[in-house]
Amino acid sequence: MIGRLNHVAIAVPDLAQAMATYRDILGAQVDAPHDLPEFGVTVVFVRLPNTNVELLHPFGEKSPLSRFLQRNPAGGMHHVCYEVADIRAAIDQLRQQGLEVLDPEPKIGAHGQPVVFLHPKAMGGVLVELEQASRDSSILTGS
Ligand code: CO
Repeated sequence: MIGRLNHVAIAVPDLAQAMATYRDILGAQVDAPHDLPEFGVTVVFVRLPNTNVELLHPFGEKSPLSRFLQRNPAGGMHHVCYEVADIRAAIDQLRQQGLEVLDPEPKIGAHGQPVVFLHPKAMGGVLVELEQASRDSSILTGS
């Protein structure tokens, strides 16, 4: 069911500093920040040859990420995102297998593609995002 690792998401307390670290010290291509009000986060994609890193920072007053950063003041790994070909088929299959999908319906994620999250308790303690791969999906071009 799952395909490529689309990204690893890291919550950071200081977005500008994290961007500078990846861009200026690690020499990665770092995209501009992008606000996702529906998720209460600002995201920055760091482009790597084989996957992406998604830097996450709270956006707005009621961001769910604020609680995460309160528990992890230095930041921390927040979730991993796997690609699936068909998000609705994936959701149906997972629910049939009794695996808890957190979102009743897919939302549009950071790449403009439908995403859902799976409960960490079923996934080795790691929050897992599934993203429907775009037809012209290419990690290298960042689409
Ligand atoms: Co993500």
